Amino acid sequence: MKMVMLLWILSVISSATLLSTGSLALSEDGLTLLEIMSTWNDSRNILANWQATDESPCKWTGISCHPHDQRVSSINLPYMELGGIISPSIGKLSRLQRLALHQNSLHGSIPYEITQCTELRAIYLRANYLQGGIPADIGNLSHLTILDLSSNSLKGAIPSAIGRLTRLRHLNLSTNFFSGEIPDFGSLSTFGNNSFIGNSDLCGRQVHKPCRTSLGFPAVLPHAASDEAAVPPKRSSHYIKGLLIGVMSTMAIILLCSLYSFGFACYQRRKELPRNTQKLKSKLIKKQVQSSLLFMVTFHILPVRSLKSWSLLMKRML
Ligand SMILES: *[C@@H]1O[C@H](CO)[C@@H](O)[C@H](O)[C@H]1NC(C)=O
Ligand SMILES: *[C@@H]1O[C@H](CO)[C@@H](O)[C@H](O)[C@H]1NC(C)=O
Ligand SMILES: *[C@@H]1O[C@H](CO)[C@@H](O)[C@H](O)[C@H]1NC(C)=O
Ligand SMILES: *[C@@H]1O[C@H](CO)[C@@H](O)[C@H](O)[C@H]1NC(C)=O
Repeated sequence: MKMVMLLWILSVISSATLLSTGSLALSEDGLTLLEIMSTWNDSRNILANWQATDESPCKWTGISCHPHDQRVSSINLPYMELGGIISPSIGKLSRLQRLALHQNSLHGSIPYEITQCTELRAIYLRANYLQGGIPADIGNLSHLTILDLSSNSLKGAIPSAIGRLTRLRHLNLSTNFFSGEIPDFGSLSTFGNNSFIGNSDLCGRQVHKPCRTSLGFPAVLPHAASDEAAVPPKRSSHYIKGLLIGVMSTMAIILLCSLYSFGFACYQRRKELPRNTQKLKSKLIKKQVQSSLLFMVTFHILPVRSLKSWSLLMKRML
């Protein structure tokens, strides 16, 4: 009997403590911030007050919250020497409005999940070591007013979806490795060359650089295709490879045939004129070289043109 009583009292006490600590547990946004922090290298120990034992993250360094529901509205940690990556967990901060992590040492890609923070108004990621492309769904961030991704190592095409951001007032994609045509559409038409400087492979009206190669065909495919350039589909690259191999082998066969026929001609001539052979030989070798060069030039330039149209055709068909 005594034993049962003791157990009952113990269970009451433990459930009471569980309930009371439950009401003091860190909010969902707080837990998300701890996940984000876990992928950072905080060498200066700036984030020492980001403590799992707190109830709310709203007083943590660099964090602001919406006044009514205490959801996180802003992460403001520029010039903090933070290393590491931007965790995909950021997508869980659904009421985030400002993300300022410029002038740190973050690497890795801009997580696709950032496009789930649909209330974002300002993204400052200038001067880090970010790689990869801009997530195409960035066009979903309809409140976005400021997007500064300058001075990183970002590459790929500029998604035309940025043109859908009607509230965008400041765009800076300078000093990266973006390439292809800048879509001249929507808000993307409103920015000039100093939003794009330092990306040598960009072309388009905004940078006063026509999108043509020296041979006269467009440097990039139309926008719909260029949006996928950040994550190129594997299948089409296989097809292009296959085509390339096909064209190369055709060229090789043609070259071999031509060499063979010229060789045959030489043999015949040598038979007819046995005298003066040394002179003749060198003359004929010269001729052989000239003609094979001619073949190489004609059959090299032609397939490059047709290869482009073939691969386009294949892509359409797939
Ligand atoms: C964290 O940063 C410090 C200084 O920037 C560096 O020495 C250290 O190697 C980094 N650690 C990791 C795990 O990246
Ligand atoms: C962005 O919007 C498109 C179309 O409305 C939708 O299919 C897609 O899932 C959205 N992406 C995100 C990350 O919410
Ligand atoms: C940028 O464009 C302006 C005119 O819009 C021009 O004066 C300036 O030289 C351009 N700068 C570069 C680097 O092309
Ligand atoms: C974009 O950033 C670069 C370097 O970070 C700067 O030189 C340039 O003036 C900025 N352009 C705009 C439009 O703010």
